[in-house]
Amino acid sequence: MLYPQRNKYRHFVDLSGFWDFRFDPDDKGIGENWTTGFNISRPIAVPASWNDQFADDRDFLGPAWYQLKFKKPSDWKKKKIIIRFGSVNYLSEVWLNGELVGQHEGGHLPFEYDISNKIVLEDNLLVVRVDGRLSEEHVPPKGRPMNYPQTNFDFYPFCGIHRPVLLYAIPTEGLRDITVRTSIIETTGIIKVSIETDSLKGAYVNLSLKGFGKELNYTSKIDEKIQKITLEVKNAKFWNTETPNLYDLTVDIVKEDLIIDSYSLKVGVRTIEVKGDKLLLNGKSVYLTGFGRHEDFPITGRGYIPAVIIKDYSLMNWIGANSFRTSHYPYSEQMMDLADRLGFLVIDEIPAVGLTFNKNVIARHLELCTQYIEELIKRDKNHPSVIMWSLANEPHSSLKSGEFFKALYDKARKLDNSRPITIVNMMGVRDKAFEICDVLCINRYYGWYMQPGSVNEACEILSKEVDSLYEKHRKPIIISEFGADTIPGWHSQPPEMFSEEYQVEFIKKYIEICRSKPYIIGEHVWNLCDFKTSQGITRMGGINYKGVFTRDRRPKMAAHLLRKLWKFQNPKFKYSY
Ligand code: GCU
Repeated sequence: MLYPQRNKYRHFVDLSGFWDFRFDPDDKGIGENWTTGFNISRPIAVPASWNDQFADDRDFLGPAWYQLKFKKPSDWKKKKIIIRFGSVNYLSEVWLNGELVGQHEGGHLPFEYDISNKIVLEDNLLVVRVDGRLSEEHVPPKGRPMNYPQTNFDFYPFCGIHRPVLLYAIPTEGLRDITVRTSIIETTGIIKVSIETDSLKGAYVNLSLKGFGKELNYTSKIDEKIQKITLEVKNAKFWNTETPNLYDLTVDIVKEDLIIDSYSLKVGVRTIEVKGDKLLLNGKSVYLTGFGRHEDFPITGRGYIPAVIIKDYSLMNWIGANSFRTSHYPYSEQMMDLADRLGFLVIDEIPAVGLTFNKNVIARHLELCTQYIEELIKRDKNHPSVIMWSLANEPHSSLKSGEFFKALYDKARKLDNSRPITIVNMMGVRDKAFEICDVLCINRYYGWYMQPGSVNEACEILSKEVDSLYEKHRKPIIISEFGADTIPGWHSQPPEMFSEEYQVEFIKKYIEICRSKPYIIGEHVWNLCDFKTSQGITRMGGINYKGVFTRDRRPKMAAHLLRKLWKFQNPKFKYSY
């Protein structure tokens, strides 16, 4: 799925700004035809969650209605016109000028609708109904009444239009998709480009690859809808965490000697593979230091905020992290583009958290997880920073989980055979999911939820368990979550739970275990920052305090510990960018 871009042939308008908005507590909008517009409304900022933008109704999860009037750019003639939503959580229905253009289920992944025959030159009225109410049928699902809102996952179910809504125009015939796969032979970079076009028999595709003083050009006649072209770059500049070298690839479509379409994207030449108990980046073993995270900030909730994205990368660079997992859902396209540019390794996770394998929802859950992995790979397949797909976070164990994840694994493998696949697990050694994964990711909280207060005992248990996990599966292991809730400014000697000293001791001792096992290839602390959750007896103020930074990005003592361990004890890390 090509992200909208501007050039001589392609244009887009960002519809971000203040839209009209209203809650629909009696769910009467459809019956009262709000689809053709509604008069009673208040302004709302798009993109952003609706929950914390107002003084009231924070926990109202929907349905709610958005509307926006816009004009079609007058120079968009003879174009295919599409409207694209970057992320709407959770259910959305979209009308243009009173006509339903589409419905989508699932947040954090883009969807788009062709409105070429519906858009008018003057006033267009876009109406969106969003419903974030929780349900056992949904992925992620509703949970038991242990918290409010009743999530089966540990983050607040923010609702709304969370990422930019783009109106874009492309040639009526031209490029439909581009897929890039890279490999390395000694000092040569091999770039396989697969180009999908409309049926354009007799037309040509021109490729140009530029970078580091080099330019390669390649022309090929279009005789199929998919052209596969291989470029060889001698003495290539490879992509890695220290030198995230990117080339500029431009694909032009030429018909009767005229360029009719063009698209440019960044290409990073790198390889990623599992070999024995190691993860190899460009053939060299790589060790992941970093975090599980959330897209979360006060007021805007799950909304896209460029400045916070930049801040978080700056903090991860400051602390010496080289990687993160998009827990527990895909992050914005802009976050992924910056991971390519800044050289971060990303475990890219679909929004499958809290799966129960409950018999009356398992079939629907598999449908949704399949939809999510298709949408995610279609969106993120060309990022050199994406080194692994994660099919779920902490699925409950069940006899059914084996066949469920085998089906999902096979689907992901079919869509992309170039990256390892994992499932982030909290279950024991015997869990079926471990047999399916290429890399084992485990979340462990001995010393917090179990053996509370006793980090030494916790680490003894952890050490024995990872040994037996490796013994059984002989696959590389990432400790994908470990951490302790820490109230900023709370201190104690000796270190007690919730104090900054305890978080330091907890993280330090877990990392000692990680470093003592040759088959452990990564340590991801939970979490980079404190974040909003549902209310519950274990979440004071509805916040998870396991961040090494506060929710407004101020460091706790553990941040300084990690900077020492990651930045200065690993001098090979890149510095400021
Ligand atoms: C789990 C889960 C996280 C959660 C964390 C915690 O491992 O994956 O989403 O926030 O534990 O309890 O802090």
